[in-house]
Amino acid sequence: MKFFLDTANIEEIREANATGLLDGVTTNPSLIKKSGRDFFEVITEIASEVEGPVSAETVSHDHETMLKEGLKCAKIADNIAVKVPLTLDGLKTCKALRAEGIMVNVTLCFSANQALLAAKAGASFISPFVGRHDDVGFDGMELIEDIRTIYDNYGFGTEILVASVRHPVHVLESARIGADVATFPWDVMKKLFNHPLTVNGLAGFDKDWAATGFSIL
Ligand code: E4P
Repeated sequence: MKFFLDTANIEEIREANATGLLDGVTTNPSLIKKSGRDFFEVITEIASEVEGPVSAETVSHDHETMLKEGLKCAKIADNIAVKVPLTLDGLKTCKALRAEGIMVNVTLCFSANQALLAAKAGASFISPFVGRHDDVGFDGMELIEDIRTIYDNYGFGTEILVASVRHPVHVLESARIGADVATFPWDVMKKLFNHPLTVNGLAGFDKDWAATGFSIL
């Protein structure tokens, strides 16, 4: 499963990238606002920092303007994935951008039927929002299971990008189900490394090793 970082904060991206485990980045208008930086400046910097896909989200709702925005975003770098919303106009734009060979991430997906439409529109990635789904009383991971089944039934190449990830269990369940990608904040990624038994085990080994008086180097 690929790991994307869900942020427009360049320091966090550098830290995550230094682990060697980062496969891409996703951003959205809220994350751009949080970064406090100019959209083109920050997306250009992220795209040069990371080798994998970097999602840059369009903001217009009508197909013509969204397409213009998408084409402009795609010019920033070869690794830009243009993000469009899962609406009728969004999927028309997805189809048009894919015809130009541009990567497209269809976002704000909350149903398996929506994911089916995105795959038929040739989306490179579909972004079902699991955390926001959980927030309103539905099981976000059930949606991921349904999409996995449907995509496998028909051999769709669209990658399932689990978004709105809030904690490590979302990551674990995504991997169990066979999602292609999970995108999460740096805070969640750091938690994936942690286990109290690892910390305790290390403390025990440190103590015993010190008692031997040996040195490896
Ligand atoms: C990423 O592509 C999504 O925009 C993001 O994961 C949404 O996360 P949120 O629900 O925590 O805002």
